Amino acid sequence: MTDQPLWHGRFESAPADSLMAFTESLSFDKKLWRDDITASIAHVKGLAHSQIINETESAAIISALETVASEFASNKFEFVPTDEDIHTAIERRVTQIAGDVGAKLHTGRSRNDQVATAMRLWCKRELANIAKLTLDLCDVFTQRAAQAGWGSDGIYLPGYTHMQRAQPVLLAHHLAAHAWAMLRDVDRLTQTIERLDVSPLGAGALAGSSLPLDPDFVAKELGFAARFNNSLDAVSDRDFVAEALFDLALIGIHMSRVGEEWVLWTTQEFGFAVLDDAYSTGSSMLPQKKNADIAELARGKSGRLIGNLTGLLATLKGLPLSYNRDLQEDKEPLFDSVTQVARGLQALSGMISTAKFNTDAMKLAADSELLGATDLAEWLVTRGMPFREAHAHVGALVSRSIRENVSLTQLVVADPALGPDSASLLKPGVGVSRRITKGGSGPVPGAVQARELSAALTVMRTRVAALIIFPPTP
Ligand code: ARG
Repeated sequence: MTDQPLWHGRFESAPADSLMAFTESLSFDKKLWRDDITASIAHVKGLAHSQIINETESAAIISALETVASEFASNKFEFVPTDEDIHTAIERRVTQIAGDVGAKLHTGRSRNDQVATAMRLWCKRELANIAKLTLDLCDVFTQRAAQAGWGSDGIYLPGYTHMQRAQPVLLAHHLAAHAWAMLRDVDRLTQTIERLDVSPLGAGALAGSSLPLDPDFVAKELGFAARFNNSLDAVSDRDFVAEALFDLALIGIHMSRVGEEWVLWTTQEFGFAVLDDAYSTGSSMLPQKKNADIAELARGKSGRLIGNLTGLLATLKGLPLSYNRDLQEDKEPLFDSVTQVARGLQALSGMISTAKFNTDAMKLAADSELLGATDLAEWLVTRGMPFREAHAHVGALVSRSIRENVSLTQLVVADPALGPDSASLLKPGVGVSRRITKGGSGPVPGAVQARELSAALTVMRTRVAALIIFPPTP
């Protein structure tokens, strides 16, 4: 049996080498060994539960499956050339160990429901782990925000729009913005996990079975929240992989945006942050260089994460019901995205938690008096001037200040509508405290936001903790 494929019965010649080379999935789906064995054990229990096999047979097959699991865990499992994928490899080995009774393992089951089951089990575990790692990065942002300070003495920097200095904002507020985005990523992952928590086992190749299988029983055994409703859908559905790839791509995009900022922040031109040596790299030729490679790759790898998503969507498009071998193409992008996002999240967490902020450089950039222009316009509004008029009035002073190279403060002091009282708005640090509205960047809403963020993190931690399954894939 080891030199023949599982489907040898109907065939007269052995599979061609080029066929095996092109269609095999073992080289990448061996990652699923644990989940395939878990699902197989549940399936065997199901067969016994439905009295399709007896308890002795069930015990013998389960014991062989457990032996196979320990072989994988200790790296002792040996593949043979006819092992087309992880499912055939495991079944082949079970039969070797258990003898004839092993041939009963695949009763009422197809690789179509088998692979869908293993993939869902794998996703439940791995996506929960990604959610945890994302939450860890949220924590890093939150802790660094707390260190930077939410109060009126907190560190501040210019906030930008269009990459132009706009208004001073608390560094805490800036860092927390990324935490909020990533909290949505975690929320999205938990929802994806909830939606994919459906067992396809028992769908068979496409139509169910003539044997008295009990899909509810195996779904429960496997800890799934529900069983499939439609066997054709069960074996053809890869929505959960597409959703997972979207969630991962969006995390990648968020990491990329963080990465871009840190590339800028660590330039000599910005000089807002200095990376720890352990989280930066040097140049092979230029001795003075210290590069933000983690930040750059956080940016760069988002390209392939988007590619993994669009690649799978293109594969799924136009596939007729039900299972088609095309679906095997779901694995490499998924495994790759999970690996890359997990590594990226950990590297970014390390980079950001160990970096030093150059608060003087941030302050210097944010103390530019032009960043108080909006405050001047709003001051005029409180004195009764319509905003559009106030905007034009201050705009003209800014323009004159730049043209004539005079300080804006000087012009404001001499201006009849503004005058010396309003000029104090341009003093260093004043603008930051003036953002008083809910969710705004000043210390007053900042105190509220710090509490809201910490509460949101606690809620999400609890949700993710409930989803964590051990052990993670080796
Ligand atoms: N390796 C296949 C996959 O990943 C397993 C299912 C193959 N099923 C089949 N009938 N050829 O999709």
